[in-house]
Amino acid sequence: MKIFHLLLISFLVFVAISQETTPTCTDDQVLVKGKCKDVQNCKTQLGFFKQTQANGKKQIAKRPTFALELKDGNLQFSLTFANGKDLQTSVETGSTTTCIQINLRRFGAAFTNEVADASVITSTSTDTSRTWSFTVNKDQFDSIFLKDESNDEIKYTGFYAISVTLLLPNDNGIKPLAFFAFKFSAIFSKDLATLKSSEIKPKVQAEQVCADAAGEQCVNTAQSTLTLCSDDACETPLNTNELVKGETIYLKQSITQEGFKGGKWKPMDAEITVVANGVTKSVKPKKLDKGQNGEQMYQLKLNFLGNKVTIGCEAQMGETTAARILQEAADDPSVVGSTSVSCIKETSSSTCPTEEQVLTYNSENCSGVSCDDDESSNAMIFKVVITMLGLLIL
Ligand SMILES: *[C@@H]1O[C@H](CO)[C@@H](O)[C@H](O)[C@H]1NC(C)=O
Repeated sequence: MKIFHLLLISFLVFVAISQETTPTCTDDQVLVKGKCKDVQNCKTQLGFFKQTQANGKKQIAKRPTFALELKDGNLQFSLTFANGKDLQTSVETGSTTTCIQINLRRFGAAFTNEVADASVITSTSTDTSRTWSFTVNKDQFDSIFLKDESNDEIKYTGFYAISVTLLLPNDNGIKPLAFFAFKFSAIFSKDLATLKSSEIKPKVQAEQVCADAAGEQCVNTAQSTLTLCSDDACETPLNTNELVKGETIYLKQSITQEGFKGGKWKPMDAEITVVANGVTKSVKPKKLDKGQNGEQMYQLKLNFLGNKVTIGCEAQMGETTAARILQEAADDPSVVGSTSVSCIKETSSSTCPTEEQVLTYNSENCSGVSCDDDESSNAMIFKVVITMLGLLIL
């Protein structure tokens, strides 16, 4: 037998063993905090969000497609479900006592600082599909989105999620069913009249990830702290509040979420979003694979200037077992955290930049893009391994 087959079998055995403790519910029941609860009259509505098991974890059977477009000068976001004509949730019925509740959530940089968003989600249908959409008016872009300004363009970035929750009748329990998160960016002409390009990056999660078998400690997004360090082992925190453009900096991310810290979970590949006054950049850091369980170290450079800087980090939260290699990266739970400094300046001897210096420097040297000088090779290797294992299973 090939070594890969042996690995695969060990993995499947591992999955079987690790799931032994979870009770098996009937088709008319759902598992809520370790107990099988009768879904009663919610069964039909629930059908749409039925989850399948793939590679040892739950998956949404029906993934929506995500889109954004300029409509009457405003930005409209939409999620479209194929064969979703019969979808029945609070959005379709307009009732908050219905079985399936939909909520819009909004975040700060890198999915930190989650809040409820009051924008109205509307539902429209065609013969075969169902679309949920919400609109953000252009006069709200500056206050709601993260902004990146250059001489001739404005880029907005934002982080949202639509959460889907089952409310069982007679106060019988609440169960999160799906979390349709996404990050978008949209590049406009200065006058906001033209949408030059846009990008939307979905992150779909089935159920929540739980730290315990009883399902008491469950999250879509786990919290962590982010610390700037003076070296790659992170023995001492960085003792300055002003960073220098182009200098190597080190970050330590430590999971603080109850149940997930110090145990088998570890922040993996991360994406950093740096937000300053009129500046928003994505940076792909290098993962150093140092630190204890529950921790990760990263190395990165910031090739732009900024004032009042927040560094947000969103990492995939993986288990420190080989099992992760078979999972689909996009669906891993996230672990997020942020830290702040007063500025990113041009040289170690300069003072923090003026807003004008920020605009001219970034327009010329780092406009609209991430300014990464080297792409992380980790992500690429990971994708290749996934593809190889995928072919093996087929
Ligand atoms: C762009 O970067 C170079 C090299 O760091 C620098 O000399 C130049 O002044 C920068 N441009 C602006 C407009 O600040």
